[in-house]
Amino acid sequence: MSTQKALYLLQAKGQFAVRERDIQEPSSGEVLVEIHATALNPIEWKIQAFGLFITEYPIVLGVDAAGIVKKLGAGVTDVSVGDKVLFQGKFNTRYSTFQQYTVAPAELVAKVPSNLTLDQASAIPAAVATASLGLYSHNEADGIALTAPWEEGGRGKYTGEPILIIGGSSAVGQQAIQFAKLSGFSPIITTGSLHNEAYLKSLGATHVIDRSTPLSTLPAVVKEITSNPIKVAYDAISESETQNAAYDVLAPGGRLVIVLPGAVDKVKITPEKEISPVAGSPHAPGKHEIGRNLYANLTGLLESGAIKPNNIEVLSGGLAGIPEGVERLKKGVSALKLVVHPQETV
Ligand SMILES: NC(=O)c1ccc[n+]([C@@H]2O[C@H](COP(=O)([O-])OP(=O)(O)OC[C@H]3O[C@@H](n4cnc5c(N)ncnc54)[C@H](OP(=O)(O)O)[C@@H]3O)[C@@H](O)[C@H]2O)c1
Repeated sequence: MSTQKALYLLQAKGQFAVRERDIQEPSSGEVLVEIHATALNPIEWKIQAFGLFITEYPIVLGVDAAGIVKKLGAGVTDVSVGDKVLFQGKFNTRYSTFQQYTVAPAELVAKVPSNLTLDQASAIPAAVATASLGLYSHNEADGIALTAPWEEGGRGKYTGEPILIIGGSSAVGQQAIQFAKLSGFSPIITTGSLHNEAYLKSLGATHVIDRSTPLSTLPAVVKEITSNPIKVAYDAISESETQNAAYDVLAPGGRLVIVLPGAVDKVKITPEKEISPVAGSPHAPGKHEIGRNLYANLTGLLESGAIKPNNIEVLSGGLAGIPEGVERLKKGVSALKLVVHPQETV
């Protein structure tokens, strides 16, 4: 078989459509993966609605996937044909995941442990990368350079230090909570809807602040929880209001990770508080080493339950189910990743 089905975004701000395309050959160091599950991310509706980032159309989107290795490129020794793997794609039709087959660098795939389904595994890569690279990347351009839990001395290194995570119920926020727990942070204070409180506590949050609480009161609310200075904050939502509130909570010497472009009011920015955007992809420039280390450790973190998968819902229709999912993400979901099965595309 040499062709497959793929979901194309036909033009800027245009429609999605399923089309045939060639199955790629893996180059040296790459593997060909038959994609059994791919998860959606908010960036896909933003690309469709606003025409962000993409300069050449038509394009296949999708960056979250899990599947079965079908072919090895030259020099691949750590991965075998038949392995179940999860991996992050890129917004480049050769490497994206809204298709039935794609290629991926072998060093950036992780074997799926037996305690996870491929559906669960598919929803992990982008959220795990965004959370962990934001906290642990030593890259000058982004990340706040904490010691990762997979590095020597990293587990529990920040015991007793508080952390604020805005938007704990988001896919990224859920993973940020779990990495914060592995790093030893305490208390782990997050914001979210109270119907998610028990779930967020099961992941490691110690305090869940109702996200409908006026953000102007956040510094006072956090102070009631801990009198220790907040030196690390992760804003997994990064709207203007949440960035400003997180920045207000931060103590001098503190560092704030943001997942969208900076929106803290210029008048309040001080050199005493660092704002660090994150590019949540192991393929991003400067991320090669940390990406490799993350992927070398990911299977173990998932197998031990140290990192748990997000809740998922599988949409019907294979790749043709994605446009409906994109609309749902645009309206907003609560602590849920939407997944499709590309092999079910008719
Ligand atoms: N920089 C990067 O590389 C990168 C990578 C991935 C994602 N992102 C961006 O990161 C953001 C989160 O992505 P995601 O996939 O994690 O999103 P998501 O899972 O779709 O987020 C949905 C959740 O956001 C929560 N939420 C929404 N507004 C909130 C607010 N004002 N305060 C607290 N919680 C709020 C909701 O919580 P409740 O249900 O509890 O109300 C909901 O569960 C998006 O803007 C995305 O584009 C950036």
